[in-house]
Amino acid sequence: LELEEIEGCCILFSNDHVEQQLKQVRRMDVRDDDVILCTYPKAGTHWIWEILSMLTSGTSLYCQEMKKSFMLENADLANVNSQPSPRVLNTHLLPPTLPETTWTSQARLVVFHRNPKDSVVSLYSMARQVTFKSAFEGSFDGYAELFLKGTVPYGSWFDYVRAWEDVRMRLPSHRIYVGCYEDMHRDPVGEVSRLAEFLEVGASQDLCRDIASACSFQRMKIAAEKKRGAKESRDFWKPNATGIFRKGQVGDWKNWMTQELSEAFDQEFNQKLADLTHLHFTFEL
Ligand code: A3P
Repeated sequence: LELEEIEGCCILFSNDHVEQQLKQVRRMDVRDDDVILCTYPKAGTHWIWEILSMLTSGTSLYCQEMKKSFMLENADLANVNSQPSPRVLNTHLLPPTLPETTWTSQARLVVFHRNPKDSVVSLYSMARQVTFKSAFEGSFDGYAELFLKGTVPYGSWFDYVRAWEDVRMRLPSHRIYVGCYEDMHRDPVGEVSRLAEFLEVGASQDLCRDIASACSFQRMKIAAEKKRGAKESRDFWKPNATGIFRKGQVGDWKNWMTQELSEAFDQEFNQKLADLTHLHFTFEL
């Protein structure tokens, strides 16, 4: 993909500098010991980023820095470039728009997906609650329609999943971990341990247990409120917004979707991704 093709998709975070930032991202140096967390929005990026940061630092303490300071498309890249290794970067960008050195380095890529029905609910809830001029004011059904068409921030969820599967097929020797929100939800200690193995950080079972526990929804919600200052919250979220840590559940989509809409999602999924039989999305727990 060329940059122009994705620009229209960065609606929620668009600003005058987006094109310049994306060019700089392409040119930035990825290090062999970098970990890059790649997600479509609302796949639990904050959650997995904190887990990866803990694993790479060998502790169950929250990272002093904010995830957004390491988000390729939004961060101050001079600051990212000056951070000590190992870095845990994160992005919602599609594979062809990542730094070019991603593919020549030994960096590990951690790709996390979340089922599209819960993703759209989470994305809609955020789009309703942010203060930006591009906040969405319409109905959930209207937003879900845009989501199915791929005209939401970062484009189509279905294309995103496909793009990463293509990369995995084309680059079988690249270090890519593909996980999903629902597995982390069902078995956090097991999933943290699998990530630890992938990262080769030698984390003990006790540490994996401590990390899973420190990163429970409730504990992260409280920690995030402390980390993010009141002013920053006011600048980003409307009053009384639930923020990023909204519900943290699997299957909330059932409280939002009509049967018809749910079937439209199934149909889109079957049309676009049914051949990816090794990818199993859980729609309820
Ligand atoms: P909901 O809106 O469904 O609650 P992202 O970090 O990619 O923006 O994703 C945000 C979603 O991940 C939100 O989903 C949020 O509640 C959920 N989430 C964040 N931390 C979580 C945790 N520790 N456990 C479970 N879900 C979490």
